[in-house]
Amino acid sequence: MHKILLKLLLKLKNPMATPSEIIKENVPSSEIIYLGLDLGTSQSAIVTSTGLKLNVASIVGWPKDFIAYNMVKKPIVFGDECIRYRTSLNVYYPLEKGAFKYRGKSSDGKPINEEEAKASVELLKYLLGLVERKGDQKLFAVVGAPARATRDDKQAIIDAAEGLVDSILVVSEPFLVAHGLGFSGNTIVVDLGAGTLDICRMPGTIPEEIDQRTLFVAGNEIDNKFIELLKKKHPGIHINSHLARKIKEEYAFIGSGPGKIELDFYINGKLTTINVVTELRKATSIVFPEIISHVRELIVTFDPEFMSSLARNIILAGGGSGMKGLASQIEACLSEDLGTVTVTVVDDPLFQSALGGLKLAQEIPLEEWEQL
Ligand SMILES: Nc1ncnc2c1ncn2[C@@H]1O[C@H](COP(=O)(O)OP(=O)(O)OP(=O)(O)O)[C@@H](O)[C@H]1O
Ligand SMILES: [Mg+2]
Repeated sequence: MHKILLKLLLKLKNPMATPSEIIKENVPSSEIIYLGLDLGTSQSAIVTSTGLKLNVASIVGWPKDFIAYNMVKKPIVFGDECIRYRTSLNVYYPLEKGAFKYRGKSSDGKPINEEEAKASVELLKYLLGLVERKGDQKLFAVVGAPARATRDDKQAIIDAAEGLVDSILVVSEPFLVAHGLGFSGNTIVVDLGAGTLDICRMPGTIPEEIDQRTLFVAGNEIDNKFIELLKKKHPGIHINSHLARKIKEEYAFIGSGPGKIELDFYINGKLTTINVVTELRKATSIVFPEIISHVRELIVTFDPEFMSSLARNIILAGGGSGMKGLASQIEACLSEDLGTVTVTVVDDPLFQSALGGLKLAQEIPLEEWEQL
């Protein structure tokens, strides 16, 4: 895998072009549609050379019975619609902790069953079906995977995409984030997603295993911790992961934050206003020490001459980058012993990895695509 990517990157056409420049350049139809696809645990994003830019919640559902079918009026439902109609659907999440559930085992050790594998392929089909193809236009895809995804994890995506695309390359997600932004050396990408926290050092070559970390402490774990803490303090509170996530996305912070966050909940069936600030602070703080210790380690184990430039080039990506105070707290904490530390939050967290994928897809020479 490394060898293929290395060979390809050495032949890149225009590595410094930005993804938006690339999209504009390629809008006219051609025989090939290039695409960047980020299969995320909570959100999948797709960006194509034909100008398509869409994200879809990574959820698939089938109506439970004919009453449910009459309500949703579809044999299969995807994304946000699936969340809306979840009580009428058998719901599947095709990704867990960043891994695509197509075969093998999920994180709890249980074998991935037929329905789960079917849901994964259906999600891929749906996403790729959003791409309008004229005549026999070919589809060449670069797909993001967690930094430390195994060979089997990557192969599962390739196998599931068989017959849906003409050629495919699966690449480390944080690498794609950096590549999309035009960074290739002396940069650290911190991608805080729903299922994984990916941290990747860009050493000026293709990152190796020692340059990358994939941790399973990310958005979903924050939601679970928040629920656990609220249930402990307020037994009888009615809360689920959707509600916890919504609250987190609106109010989450790292550091001092507000004095109180007062919200209404049903507790033992009675509408009650409670202050959730302490529970939310404790829940969000589970990711912080992980980020600090791994980023620090990646900096201090780098070539001493370039350690300070690495510390000044930290990119914060993924949905979790929207957490208030996260970037400034990373800077404050690391600068205590590393000198100046600069953390930049990406502009387009939901699409950054897909945009990097599209950029890479368009740079790979045609003859290389044909050989993949
Ligand atoms: N403002 C915010 N504050 C905190 N967390 C947020 C915010 N906005 C989004 N999130 C969280 O970010 C996560 C989604 O991020 P992202 O779309 O990057 O994940 P993903 O790519 O689907 O997951 P992964 O990369 O782990 O497979 C969710 O847990 C979501 O709740
Ligand atoms: Mg992601």
